[in-house]
Amino acid sequence: MLLSLENIELYYDHVYALKGVSLNLAEGETVALIGANGAGKSSILRAITGLRKPRAGMITYRGDRIDGKSPAEIVKMGIAMVPEGRRVFPLMSVKDNLLMGAFTRSDKAGIARSLDAVLTRFPRLKERYGQQAGTLSGGEQQMMVIGRALMAAPKLLLLDEPSLGIAPKLVQDIARAIVAISRDEGVSVLLVEQNSRMALSISARAYALSTGTVALSGASKDLMHDPRIKAAYLGGDI
Ligand SMILES: Nc1ncnc2c1ncn2[C@@H]1O[C@H](COP(=O)(O)OP(=O)(O)OP(=O)(O)O)[C@@H](O)[C@H]1O
Ligand SMILES: [Mg+2]
Repeated sequence: MLLSLENIELYYDHVYALKGVSLNLAEGETVALIGANGAGKSSILRAITGLRKPRAGMITYRGDRIDGKSPAEIVKMGIAMVPEGRRVFPLMSVKDNLLMGAFTRSDKAGIARSLDAVLTRFPRLKERYGQQAGTLSGGEQQMMVIGRALMAAPKLLLLDEPSLGIAPKLVQDIARAIVAISRDEGVSVLLVEQNSRMALSISARAYALSTGTVALSGASKDLMHDPRIKAAYLGGDI
């Protein structure tokens, strides 16, 4: 397994957010993590990226234990996250936002190649290369933060609700970009989404989270037709 979480418990002060979550992701796989507001999806990503230390459990990445490592060490190991809410540096140019993603790298030629690949993947960013990031549309900002994460040359990309607040047409573009990144660059993807339909349609497997525990998991194509998933997660979508 590329990544595995075993019985992760995570608390904010005395209140639990994750109550023993186990999940895994194989090399090359795209796995979706779906669930309602407050279910604990972002907390899982915070635990993986070292932003929050689990109280119990174990996280391994390519066989190495990573819970307890710093966020910078974890980025260097090949895990990059696109946080929820986009978090652009609004006064900086698109170019400088993208370059921020390479902060742990020192291989100039490699960074230049990554930048080239990102601009080829997202031509809109090329058109707006010198523009202040705060003036991009929501969808363009989302492309830019995905591009920024790719600038770290990750093996594993964690995406936290990339479709949130984005026009349906652009949601499709972003979904296509995620598929292409995984296919062309061999990047494994853990995709957190409230847009369960989109997430299930582009992932191989999925976990449905409910109040800090995994309620259901399995092949995405099966979950798409599972009456429990339909009732709980697909009702209001699209
Ligand atoms: N910094 C914090 N301090 C206290 N409680 C927090 C903090 N961050 C999250 N929580 C709580 O932990 C639980 C899980 O939150 P989390 O952000 O992981 O949910 P989520 O599934 O990502 O939700 P959403 O879809 O709304 O982003 C929630 O009950 C939330 O209120
Ligand atoms: Mg969240």
